[in-house]
Amino acid sequence: MLRKSNTAEPRDLGDQFALLVSGVVDYAIFMLDPAGVIVTWNEGAQRIKGYTATEVIGRHFSIFYPPAEVRNRKPDWELEVAKREGRYEEEGWRLRKDGTRFWANVIITALRDETGRLRGFGKVTRDLTEWKRIEDLRNAERDAEVTRLHAHADRMAELERTKADFLNLASHELRGPMTVIRGYNSMLADGTLSPGQFASVARLLDLKLAQMDRLIEQMLETARLEHDDLELAQETFDLRFVVQEQIDILRPLTRDHRLVLDAGDPAPLVRGDRTRISTVVANFLDNAIKYSPDGGEIRCSACLRDSRAIVSVRDEGLGIAPEHMPRLFSRFGRLPTEENMNIPGTGLGLFLCKEIANRHGGDITVRSKPGVGSEFTLTLPPV
Ligand SMILES: Nc1ncnc2c1ncn2[C@@H]1O[C@H](COP(=O)(O)OP(=O)(O)O)[C@@H](O)[C@H]1O
Ligand SMILES: [Mg+2]
Repeated sequence: MLRKSNTAEPRDLGDQFALLVSGVVDYAIFMLDPAGVIVTWNEGAQRIKGYTATEVIGRHFSIFYPPAEVRNRKPDWELEVAKREGRYEEEGWRLRKDGTRFWANVIITALRDETGRLRGFGKVTRDLTEWKRIEDLRNAERDAEVTRLHAHADRMAELERTKADFLNLASHELRGPMTVIRGYNSMLADGTLSPGQFASVARLLDLKLAQMDRLIEQMLETARLEHDDLELAQETFDLRFVVQEQIDILRPLTRDHRLVLDAGDPAPLVRGDRTRISTVVANFLDNAIKYSPDGGEIRCSACLRDSRAIVSVRDEGLGIAPEHMPRLFSRFGRLPTEENMNIPGTGLGLFLCKEIANRHGGDITVRSKPGVGSEFTLTLPPV
């Protein structure tokens, strides 16, 4: 853009050119003497930097630089480079008269006469603040996009690992009960089993089938959680009946454990998904039985305590070492203990229990002592 000048007609080409420069408004174009003192000023310089010609001519050009750069003698250094190389160019922050910053593209050119003597410097400055703002915005958007893509890639890799873990688990954990079922089936087929043994074999097969059912159910529930479509039913029910039902289901499957229930009044009524809360209780009981291989008492309680609805299951089993506590509720979080090698499990049970409890506004807590036993407690908001 060129501002129309109302000066008298220029006499020669040199004057015309000076006029052209003085009228340019998009660029600050001015000259410095060899020491860096400002000797000319144009429209653009006034517009960009805010000084009028009279205010600025005769002053050192370092007034345009932030104080830290002046202290580091950057302006002098720029002139030094221009003197040595003929030209200096950079982009950086400069100051306006009112103290505000602008992002400048700066070119300093050394001006020499025919004998090569330095006469001063030409300086052309452009205000790129708006351009830089858009550029910064674009970079920020690009960074955000890169972060998003990385997060997506991480998530895909995580899903891939989960899938591999699932497949390993399914094949390993299903093979155990299947081998037992196949063994009894062949004994049935070749007549090795007498009718007198049928009842106890049927109980054992039930146990193995239940194990397979649980594995499949846990894998499906974990997959639902992964895809975030675990829909909870909304029913009101009494926790005492849920615990009683689960005890009734499990009691015939164990001879070494005494399952007892302390069910107090008033009724621990809760609202939520009855089937899933039953699963939590079933897993507590299943764990209590599995992880007390020498048998013992398993004492359950279902009651209202401190205005919370509570189910707890206490066993006299292996117990859990304090250092293993953080792992308990993680996905596939089986504890790396010697005893666990021979006890089947997926490490999904407590992970799912915690999720289900949390989604009902409740929680699960544990107290345990190695060699003495464990107590798992589910706490839910009462109705
Ligand atoms: N009552 C318990 N006593 C001792 N250890 C337990 C008990 N309950 C759970 N654990 C430990 O916590 C781990 C995670 O439990 P869980 O998620 O139910 O997995 P799983 O029963 O399939 O192994 C178990 O592998 C076991 O080591
Ligand atoms: Mg379990």
